[in-house]
Amino acid sequence: MANKFATKFGVVMAAAGSAVGLGNVWRFPYLAGQNGGGAFLLIYLVCILFVGMPIVLSEFVIGRRSGQNALEAMRTLSGSHRWDWLGIMCVVCGILFISFYIVIAGWCVRYLSLSIFHAALPDIANTLIALALNVGIIWFGVEKGIERISTLLMPLLLIILLMLVIRSLTLPGSGEGLKFLFTPDFSKITPSVFMAAISQAFFTLSIGLGCMLTYAAYMKKNQNLIATATQVVGIDTLVAIVAGIAIFPAVFSLGFSPAEGPQLVFSVLPAVFAEMPGGSIFMVLFYILLLIAAITSSISMQEVAVAYFDEQRHMPRRKAILLTTGIIIVLSVLCTISCNSSINLCGRSLFDWFDYLTSKFMMPIGGLAFAIYLGWFYPLKDTREELQQGSNLKPWFWHTFLWTIRIIVPIAILAIFINGLLA
Ligand code: PFF
Repeated sequence: MANKFATKFGVVMAAAGSAVGLGNVWRFPYLAGQNGGGAFLLIYLVCILFVGMPIVLSEFVIGRRSGQNALEAMRTLSGSHRWDWLGIMCVVCGILFISFYIVIAGWCVRYLSLSIFHAALPDIANTLIALALNVGIIWFGVEKGIERISTLLMPLLLIILLMLVIRSLTLPGSGEGLKFLFTPDFSKITPSVFMAAISQAFFTLSIGLGCMLTYAAYMKKNQNLIATATQVVGIDTLVAIVAGIAIFPAVFSLGFSPAEGPQLVFSVLPAVFAEMPGGSIFMVLFYILLLIAAITSSISMQEVAVAYFDEQRHMPRRKAILLTTGIIIVLSVLCTISCNSSINLCGRSLFDWFDYLTSKFMMPIGGLAFAIYLGWFYPLKDTREELQQGSNLKPWFWHTFLWTIRIIVPIAILAIFINGLLA
């Protein structure tokens, strides 16, 4: 990760690069499909606004105020070791997260090679290729270069998605898909829809595991935190909705089931590309871009752990990269195998367990802890001062933010948790 971001735009792009990834294009559509479409979208947007956005800002404040990684940041601000568990949980969460995330990045490699060579390697090879790309970038320290490249390429991903939108919307019977995505059927709102929506908010915004906090540690004091958070959240939400509009009309028109699950995007999109002139070229380009979007996210996850071993355990950086990579290889290979076999633990494959544990537990608990710490334990005048640096903090915004992190975020997360566990 960069040591200091040179421009304000660079920060927005790096944080957006972490946020925009498989979560938007792969996970959002399949969860929306499984959880009632419009009903899910509505709850998801509420979660983004009232839980996601305040936690992004909380992580920004803690990160920039301390200028440290998650563990050290909490030590610096609290002046004690009482919050160490939070820093450790962030590191563990980062490792578990990348171990299943890289498997999906491997699916992009698989579909890329299918679209170019009409043949694919075994899944474990695809996972390892994706991981090699990720580690190569971190090893050679070219994240800055990648950020620059992704600044150029991400708009291209959006353009291809928009082309898919046009194609998808002009398929016969596509209106059904739009209706599905934008008309909430309130009878579909259940505790598990809330649980899915909140986990998606954490997943897609890269919050609750100190990733946004780490980025903020590299921000300058004249960076407007509120504007930056709004832009990152805005871009991320926009990409997810555009992906939804690209997918659901095609799902209905081409006779797929919206509730197909994790394979949804990978089975529907090739069918849409097949209906487009020059579709095979766009398909190759699309998977390349999606893979890049995935890698800009996965490097930020591994960085949470690398920074810990490097700064906290005084391990040379390359040794930290080797150690974390070794752990990730073992876990991600196990995840890949678990996806393709019937072996499971209490009804879930290892892959599902990692997704479940990170986005439904660790990240919400992490986000809750960051919000509670800032809202109830850290001196309010310091938080206010940090938010004011580089921005024109309006009193109404300050009060809304404060009471959101003090009351709304904790109640929402706990209620969804308890409900989800009882359901
Ligand atoms: N936000 C990324 C996505 O939507 O694909 C995933 C992610 C990146 C989660 C970085 C967590 C993280 F630290």
